Amino acid sequence: MLIKKELKNLEEKIKDLKNKRKAVILVHNYQLPEVQDIADYRGDSLELSRAAAKTDAKVIVFCGVHFMAETASILCPEKKVIMPDIHAGCPMANMMTAEDVRKLKEKHPKAAVVGYVNTSAEVKAELDVCCTSTNAVSVVNALQDKEEVIFVPDKYLADFVEKKTGRKLIKWSGFCPTHVKILPEDIIREKRFHPFAKVIVHPECLPSVVSLADAALSTSQMAKFAKESDAKEFIVGTEVGLIYRLKKDNPDKEFYAASEAAVCPNMKRTTQDKILWALEELKEEVRVSEKIRLRAKKAIDKMLEIV
Ligand code: 13P
Ligand code: SF4
Repeated sequence: MLIKKELKNLEEKIKDLKNKRKAVILVHNYQLPEVQDIADYRGDSLELSRAAAKTDAKVIVFCGVHFMAETASILCPEKKVIMPDIHAGCPMANMMTAEDVRKLKEKHPKAAVVGYVNTSAEVKAELDVCCTSTNAVSVVNALQDKEEVIFVPDKYLADFVEKKTGRKLIKWSGFCPTHVKILPEDIIREKRFHPFAKVIVHPECLPSVVSLADAALSTSQMAKFAKESDAKEFIVGTEVGLIYRLKKDNPDKEFYAASEAAVCPNMKRTTQDKILWALEELKEEVRVSEKIRLRAKKAIDKMLEIV
């Protein structure tokens, strides 16, 4: 653990080099506090894609997991997208290959294919439309004219969308190993300790957890909900990294993790040391072949068009 003075020096070095490289630092809501503190943009998957598309920086330092950096690179191939730790992957994204999607499409040739942003670029290239946890319901609602809808890879997000839209979806068996650690008994226990708290959870959680919540929201939607709510206490059912942001944004409110076990090890791989190294070396670059990129971009553009 770096002591405060060392962190300050490191932060200054990062800032200088960032300006020299004309770089921007995009940070997901689950990142370590030391990384959140030096973000130019901090947000959920959708917000970070939008920030990547909009920035005029030459270099994007992506502090999140691999599919997020890939999405940035798909949207802005003229920019150099680098990850301070290239091994920060998303196990859910790794639960489905492009070949798996092609097989599903063969089995259901009339179905529209919706894919969560938590997928590889190769999988995105097979989709009709992409979605994030913020807009999955709106995306599926926009496909009224389609008889069948395939929704991949997260079976629990699919379950949530089914409940909200009333549509039966063709699902895959993927899930988030971090969010399934949050159990209904965790919510019941925390609710007993904090009876006046609002319960907010991520739609990647188990359906039995979602059904106990006041709202199921993306990470940035949770931040908005907490800010705008009259409630003073919140039980938060998502990766624990979000709590730092919630507390910082709302010093007068209390936030309790539904489960301290909900840690995404990949989201914790990025540190300030690695960010400095990435800016020094301009590595590790994330780039997608042009053939895949153009097909994947269509699915992302379609999502942005719908929402
Ligand atoms: P958000 O888009 O809600 O930030 O979710 C990303 C993610 O990986 C959740 O586990
Ligand atoms: Fe993937 Fe889950 Fe980690 Fe999000 S929290 S990056 S879905 S493993």
